[in-house]
Amino acid sequence: MSHIGSYENRIKDFNWSLSEQELGYKAGDKINIGWYCSDRICKLGKAGKKALIWEDFQGNVKEYTYDDIRVLSNTIADYLQKRGIQTGQRVCLFMDRIPELYIGFIGVLKMGGIVQPLFSAFREESLFTRLNNAETTAIITQKKLLPTIRKIRDQLPALQHIIVVDAGDAPLKEREVPMNMEGMPRVEQFDVFSSTAETPSVLHYTSGTTGQPKGAQHVHYSLISQYLTSKWVLDLQDNDIYWCNADPGWVTGTSYGIIGPWSNGITQAVLDSGFNADRWYSFIEKHRITNWYSAPTAIRLLMKEGTELVRKHDLSCLRHLSSVGEPLNAEAVIWSQEAFGKPFHDTYWQTETGCIVVSNYPGMPVKPGSMGKPFPGITATVLDMKTYEPINDVGKVGLIALRPGWPSMIRCYWNNPEGYKNKFKNGWYLTGDRSSIDKEGYFWFVGRDDDVINTGGHLVGPFEIESALLEHPAVAESAAVAKPDKVNMEVVKAFVALKPGYDVNEDLELEIMNFIRKRLSPLAMPQEIEFVKSLPKTRSGKIMRRVLRAQEFGEPIGDISTLEND
Ligand code: PRX
Repeated sequence: MSHIGSYENRIKDFNWSLSEQELGYKAGDKINIGWYCSDRICKLGKAGKKALIWEDFQGNVKEYTYDDIRVLSNTIADYLQKRGIQTGQRVCLFMDRIPELYIGFIGVLKMGGIVQPLFSAFREESLFTRLNNAETTAIITQKKLLPTIRKIRDQLPALQHIIVVDAGDAPLKEREVPMNMEGMPRVEQFDVFSSTAETPSVLHYTSGTTGQPKGAQHVHYSLISQYLTSKWVLDLQDNDIYWCNADPGWVTGTSYGIIGPWSNGITQAVLDSGFNADRWYSFIEKHRITNWYSAPTAIRLLMKEGTELVRKHDLSCLRHLSSVGEPLNAEAVIWSQEAFGKPFHDTYWQTETGCIVVSNYPGMPVKPGSMGKPFPGITATVLDMKTYEPINDVGKVGLIALRPGWPSMIRCYWNNPEGYKNKFKNGWYLTGDRSSIDKEGYFWFVGRDDDVINTGGHLVGPFEIESALLEHPAVAESAAVAKPDKVNMEVVKAFVALKPGYDVNEDLELEIMNFIRKRLSPLAMPQEIEFVKSLPKTRSGKIMRRVLRAQEFGEPIGDISTLEND
């Protein structure tokens, strides 16, 4: 661990200025993540080093050097500027994991736009909610996604530019324009926008219990924590070939799927293809992946396929494994030790934190099932659920809370100051998760403290699903809650009360499921619908999802004294 130092040594006198120094940044300087991830790496003498090895689902491979990333992101930045897109305007990336997504991310930041990545599986209503809230000016997308955008574009007056990366000869409509990244004249030099620490950079939408998803607003200074946590927690080293499974539509795919590796000058590989164990192992073997950041659902799926499949591949290249997004059960860590000869290191963080805040730091003994300890520079504790005071008793469950002030903490929720204010109590930032801390300071995740559903590591907000359900002609009222699942940990279950005149039947169940899939996304689609006469409500009329959830998990229902009709 000599290159990163032991946890004990690192935690002593830690100061984020260490990261600033490594990046050559001083307070008040310009700081542009796009420049740090491309131009600076070239200036450090790595222009010819591979930055991106990309493979599609058919096995076609493309490679880009750091100089390619620099020039192609200049080309995109210049294109956006020439179209009249202004600094501070929101530019959405709505694409599969194609090179334009990664390079476009850098390009938008270089021209001073706020980059808003959205998962390409989102359908019209999920897309509309997020573009409408952010008053997004431009969307960079693929031809195949145009039908979804066309359904909503007329209700989005701010959306002036629909930029299609693979338009070819396809007929385009008003406001739709082609942008052929590799076909356009290359722009060697671009005047990168002089952003400073607090200039907005990335806008990620994340789900809460109440209301529609919130836009978590990051700033360019977030680089300071993303750079250092990538190096120290993910243990990124100069000769690594790094693979992050996450899609940049979610925060892991940007903080550690773009910014972390590229600001460290690391070669990263991307596989634009869904899950398939054999395919994944072949990908690792073929590209000699050394460092892998994955997620518990994927690991559990690999586990299901067994170690025999692992043995059919030469995976000796793997050096360091990490995981994020949902609870990593002890069995998965133990299995990984058996299958790969090394454990997955669990890491914990959120869209709002921008960087890993609790983790199994390299070199620290891994306790299977635990999330590890706070990153140096992060003060984390658990608070009593009623008083919001830190709990001193070892092993007692409380709310995970963090002392604000680390570089990549979001600065606000877009147009939602109230929502942001509610995240703080007694000077602590409340994560909304529950955990205990053992006598050695390791955190043990217990669960969320709200109604958000974490399905396969993706947060889905019940409100968004319920609002969409209400648009179905048969639905009178509904509640969306988590239901336990062996692989995804949780899936969506909907409780639905029908309007008079509608009968319960299987066709209707399927129809409602598909209705949600087509409007929101496959992730948000209920895996089960239970038809009920009415839903449990508080006396003030709020649906008590908690009661339904407890029923699904076979847990005690808790205090129901405010229940309407008991
Ligand atoms: O509930 C926690 C869970 O995922 C939430 C954050 O989700 P999101 O903002 O989408 O960011 C995901 C990637 C950082 C957390 O509030 N979560 C994340 N990591 C873990 C986890 N739950 C248990 N163990 C983890 N390691």
